[in-house]
Amino acid sequence: MKKANLIYLLGSILFAVLIGFSSCTKEGPAGPAGADGEDGIDGTDGTATCIQCHDDSQNLFAKINQWEHSVHAIGGNYERNEGECAICHTSQGFLGNLDGSYDYTAEGAFISDPNPPNCYTCHKIHDTYTPEDLALTKTDPVELNNTAKATFDFGKANLCASCHQGRTVDPFPVENGGDYNVTNSRFGVHHGPQANTFAGMGLFEVGSGYNNHVHTNIADACVTCHMTEPFGAQAGGHTMNISYEYHGATELNLNGCTECHSDPDALAENTEELQAEVEELLAELQALLIDAGIYNENTGLANTGTYSSNVAGAFLNYMAIEEDRSLGVHNPTYIKKILQNSIAAIE
Ligand code: HEC
Ligand code: HEC
Ligand code: HEC
Ligand code: HEC
Ligand code: HEC
Ligand code: HEC
Repeated sequence: MKKANLIYLLGSILFAVLIGFSSCTKEGPAGPAGADGEDGIDGTDGTATCIQCHDDSQNLFAKINQWEHSVHAIGGNYERNEGECAICHTSQGFLGNLDGSYDYTAEGAFISDPNPPNCYTCHKIHDTYTPEDLALTKTDPVELNNTAKATFDFGKANLCASCHQGRTVDPFPVENGGDYNVTNSRFGVHHGPQANTFAGMGLFEVGSGYNNHVHTNIADACVTCHMTEPFGAQAGGHTMNISYEYHGATELNLNGCTECHSDPDALAENTEELQAEVEELLAELQALLIDAGIYNENTGLANTGTYSSNVAGAFLNYMAIEEDRSLGVHNPTYIKKILQNSIAAIE
């Protein structure tokens, strides 16, 4: 805290001095010279590296403005600051889990004064006070939950996958296994399983014929589609949204798609068709899960009880694909296949 205050003070003074200096030099003819001041102590130029970020060259203000409109900033769920929840929902929990200073398994572990995901969560801001600090905080491949240590390795998207992946389901249902006991109505992989659906990892694979879509060739995955050229502060860039409301209609920012899909109108139509198809499969699976007694229509959660392994697994897939919310776009062939196979397994 003290360090931040000091830096703030130093920064303010230096900026004030710079502004004062530049306004003096712009004024009319110089007057008579004043008496010499005392020599200061030589130092390195304190602001030289600061200014490489704190000027217009990085479009810092645009990024801040986009982030301020993002769900990361305003979603409000960072009061989930206890135990494991805090490693994805708070900035300090995320960074503490990376460097080992926050042990989420410890009794009573929680983050005081929680911050939502922000500049300091994803970038090494004010680590060395040079532009190197724009480096991302997490670049290694991510070992996904609910897999036998399968890794998600999509460059800059490894950062996203650290948080946007399912939580551990233990025990994980086994294909054609015996009875499965659902003891908690919140049975499921949790809200943000996009890394799993995108990579086709950590879901309940029943039956066969699974192939990932060519979208798994997209370098930097999430970042390419979600952080593309922004539309205002509504979508793209550091808002990370794809869809936005415009004149009462929901539009998609397709700027991240056009390097591969050259006709945006055709793409919008294809995307709508795919999403409608996936919605139909989801509705079909939901009806079967209601018949099986596991899906509670009123709460959107599970009814606790004992079910066959395939019903429990099909429920996990349903919840994951519902929560994924791309309605198939993240991995079209795989998502359609897993829904079809889940339906066939419990019909
Ligand atoms: C890697 C780029 C980068 C460099 C280099 C950098 N900053 Fe920052 N700085 C940021 C970002 C990003 C923020 C957060 C922006 C925000 O949320 O308003 C920030 C915020 C600040 C703030 C606001 C208070 C705070 O901590 O959030 C001050 C003051 C500041 N920087 C001073 C400095 C000074 C002084 C230096 C050089 C010694 C420096 N910065 C170097 C990127 C940088
Ligand atoms: C520190 C964990 C963390 C990281 C890293 C992270 N996210 Fe998030 N993200 C979240 C959380 C938590 C939310 C929900 C915030 C809330 O509701 O308060 C969220 C929300 C979002 C949303 C909005 C979802 C909605 O409800 O509309 C998008 C889009 C998103 N993230 C994309 C990304 C992308 C792309 C990356 C990588 C560049 C990324 N996130 C990195 C934790 C993270
Ligand atoms: C592995 C990372 C991770 C963990 C651990 C985690 N969450 Fe989340 N959670 C997310 C992400 C990512 C989102 C945003 C998903 C989206 O919007 O697509 C989210 C969303 C939520 C939401 C908002 C749901 C909605 O529909 O708006 C709530 C509430 C929530 N989490 C509660 C919790 C609680 C409580 C815990 C601990 C028991 C927890 N989370 C643990 C990653 C995590
Ligand atoms: C959820 C993670 C996340 C958050 C939060 C985040 N960034 Fe970023 N940022 C990224 C990623 C990933 C990239 C790389 C995007 C790319 O390559 O297209 C990036 C790129 C940048 C760049 C361009 C860097 C370059 O090398 O070209 C700047 C500048 C930047 N972010 C500033 C900020 C500022 C300022 C904030 C806070 C207001 C912020 N970021 C918050 C993930 C994040
Ligand atoms: C092929 C481009 C593409 C890639 C790659 C991609 N997404 Fe998406 N994502 C989409 C589209 C399109 C939607 C659906 C938007 C809609 O219909 O509202 C979406 C929806 C989402 C949502 C729901 C909230 C929203 O903005 O609609 C989240 C959260 C999300 N993606 C996160 C991720 C994460 C995390 C990754 C990487 C693991 C990722 N996405 C990879 C295109 C992509
Ligand atoms: C790196 C290249 C690349 C990017 C980026 C990309 N796609 Fe694709 N996409 C493909 C390829 C290749 C196919 C398969 C051939 C085809 O259908 O055009 C495809 C197929 C699709 C399909 C048809 C799937 C089906 O089976 O019905 C949809 C819908 C789609 N993409 C949506 C998107 C959206 C939306 C984005 C951006 C948010 C996007 N794609 C970004 C390469 C890409």
